Amino acid sequence: MNSRARFTHMQDGQVEDWAIIAQDFAAYAAQLPARILDHLRLLDGDFGGFPVDRLTHSLQTATRAYHDGRDEEYVICALLHDIGDTLGSYNHPDIAAAILKPFVSAENHWMVEKHGIFQGYYFFHHLGMDRHLREQFKDHPQYQATIEFCAKYDAAAFDPGYESLPLSFFEPMLQRVFARPKNSIYLAAMDNTSA
Ligand SMILES: [Fe+2]
Ligand SMILES: [Fe+2]
Repeated sequence: MNSRARFTHMQDGQVEDWAIIAQDFAAYAAQLPARILDHLRLLDGDFGGFPVDRLTHSLQTATRAYHDGRDEEYVICALLHDIGDTLGSYNHPDIAAAILKPFVSAENHWMVEKHGIFQGYYFFHHLGMDRHLREQFKDHPQYQATIEFCAKYDAAAFDPGYESLPLSFFEPMLQRVFARPKNSIYLAAMDNTSA
């Protein structure tokens, strides 16, 4: 569809214009999982001094969570937890958390958003930082779950000898988790335009 809205300032937009945009948006949003896969591939070959590159680390984190019996949403959180390394050099967990936020539980979102602070337990002291920064959250309901995510999956996922599942294995899971947002201000509009 090549139609385009006719306004030059949004204040002049008409319902027909927004019907065109909404239709285009639906198609674009449907490609979100493909864009996420493309972005994960940007981590391929990016070692940053670690024993494995960042894509391998992501796949290994997700594979460990999957083999440990975690549900799909959790596994996808594990797969995406470092996707923000490319653009969020100083706040990478925020990027992953923002991408996941419409599609996952508040609990999983919090875990992803805070994983950087919790992961720091394993190395902040080597950089002259406080490895116990996570303790500021010790009364939070997700405190233990986030410790567990780091201990069992994230911090454990630097083994070059580990057999990770390939990105293609996780693609159907990614499609299902990202099929429809649970939390978004646009949900009402989606319901109206798909009716
Ligand atoms: Fe991370
Ligand atoms: Fe990580």
